[in-house]
Amino acid sequence: MFRTNTCGELRLSDAGKQVTLAGWVQRTRKMGGMTFVDLRDRYGITQLVFNEEINADLCEKANKLGREFVIQVIGTVSERESKNKNLPTGEIEIIASELNILNTSLTPPFTIEDNTDGGDDIRMKYRYLDLRRATVRQNIELRHRMTMEVRRYLDSKGFLEIETPMLIGSTPEGARDFVVPSRMNPGQFYALPQSPQTLKQLLMVAGMDRYFQIVKCFRDEDLRADRQPEFTQIDCEMSFVDQEDVISTFEGMAKHLFKELRGVELTEAFPRVPWSEAMRLYGSDKPDTRFGMQFVELMDVLKGTGEFSVFNDATYIGGICAEGCASYTRKQLDQLTDFVKRSQIGAKGLVYARVQEDGSVKSSVDKFYSQEVLQNLKEAMQAKPGDLILIMSGDDAMKTRKQLCELRLEMGNRLGLRDKNKFSLLWVVDFPMFEWSEEEGRLMAMHHPFTHPKDEDIPLLDTHPEQVRADAYDMVCNGVEVGGGSIRIFDPELQDKMFQILGFTKEKAQEQFGFLMNAFKYGAPPHGGLAYGLDRWVSLFAGLDTIRDCIAFPKNNSGRDVMLDAPSCIDQKQLDELNLQIAKIEE
Ligand code: AMO
Repeated sequence: MFRTNTCGELRLSDAGKQVTLAGWVQRTRKMGGMTFVDLRDRYGITQLVFNEEINADLCEKANKLGREFVIQVIGTVSERESKNKNLPTGEIEIIASELNILNTSLTPPFTIEDNTDGGDDIRMKYRYLDLRRATVRQNIELRHRMTMEVRRYLDSKGFLEIETPMLIGSTPEGARDFVVPSRMNPGQFYALPQSPQTLKQLLMVAGMDRYFQIVKCFRDEDLRADRQPEFTQIDCEMSFVDQEDVISTFEGMAKHLFKELRGVELTEAFPRVPWSEAMRLYGSDKPDTRFGMQFVELMDVLKGTGEFSVFNDATYIGGICAEGCASYTRKQLDQLTDFVKRSQIGAKGLVYARVQEDGSVKSSVDKFYSQEVLQNLKEAMQAKPGDLILIMSGDDAMKTRKQLCELRLEMGNRLGLRDKNKFSLLWVVDFPMFEWSEEEGRLMAMHHPFTHPKDEDIPLLDTHPEQVRADAYDMVCNGVEVGGGSIRIFDPELQDKMFQILGFTKEKAQEQFGFLMNAFKYGAPPHGGLAYGLDRWVSLFAGLDTIRDCIAFPKNNSGRDVMLDAPSCIDQKQLDELNLQIAKIEE
């Protein structure tokens, strides 16, 4: 037998047993005539002891072990003199009687321990070494357990796991497609799916009734902490359902995952917040509701009630109340002002007002407002002595709310209100059907063009499409959009109308989506679904700051795999075979 045990399982009750272990040398320490080796594998770390007095040759061999050598050891389990309470195997050690060096290793470029000295780039370049670290490995293990629980839950609800193709056609809605040239069809390209949206709808037409897939999706977007160009969805679709059915099935799944993976029983129904309400109170369609600090609109209180022209010219004025922060120093307030002025946020400034112990209000715009107005402000904000009111304004309500949202999140961070071990879930519902795209100069589908409008809003499609709400819903946890979906259109006429509003000619819609529209003419059932972001769920459960850490081989912020050095140029012969020519590469 190559090994009798793993490096994570031996305990005091095993003392006296002869065992064979195999793994990597994490560390060696020489103390007097003894050499101690920490042997590591996926399951843990076990201490090996080589005693010069018992076997000098063996001890000398152990002294030559380098970090990350791969070894096999035979020895006897023995109680440790000085026990290590931090290690599950910390009560025992193996008194070695045989040592086989299975492989040597170069000195690793960073220490392979929980606290490593390796920076991001080097760890990504040598990701296979990074993955040997317990902290990283645990994320991959959690990911595995999550996919197993997802399959278990969905199987129990009658869902079939069905694969859909990775080489599909590009669509105009998919400006962010990754494309793949076809050698056999010169000049033509496949696209990698941004999601299997249309295919899962076709599976409903095919009568599959309940489909799911844990599936790679590809989007050529700018990257952020919660976005990767290739990521994984838990993609689902159901027939003969309404919004309520989909929401209850997937709320059930979220509760199942919390129970099985975090030991948390969520008994209450998740709150449902209409999109317009989320924007009004939090300036975000994915509000972090672990803490309050909701926005209060202050147009009535501050516009036209003093000489401050910035507020008098504003179309939106909103504030948040930071409890107990009136003692913020000038320096702290300047830092907050600099924060909102950063180019990513782009606000012009920040107004603050402190509620003093005696109830009076002192603000940065004192000279423009009477104490009476400032008292109205205090009242509107429901601020108490010791609180700090932070106010932003602008000429575009949506833009200003988004800026105020950034400030709210920053204050949440500063005040330690965004506890990674606390989970606050909600559904954001009633999304607008369309949003105006400056770039495209037309209305775009906010979710996707197959989303069903709310029945009561259908008459508005002809007159005020911008007011139409959709049967679309997102699940949000701690300010992260962990999933989203909608009820779909299954009536070809309504779908045609939708394409019209989105600016497609009949011919273009037929060219791009004919396959779906034709299928809908053969008895499409009412259907709807949702996709969860697997990477986002795992990172939430693991308390990670970026989804990269739960992906075995992720891309960096420039979309590069630094380990594989991809993307990379291909040689001329390959280009010729694919009928491709590189026009120009700008430095
Ligand atoms: P949507 O585009 O909202 O919907 O995506 C669903 C979920 O996928 C996750 N997600 C991402 N995760 C990591 N990196 C990315 N770049 C990324 N983009 C999205 C999010 C998101 O909530 N076909 C529809 C779903 C449906 O209607 O059924 C869709 O793809 O967690």
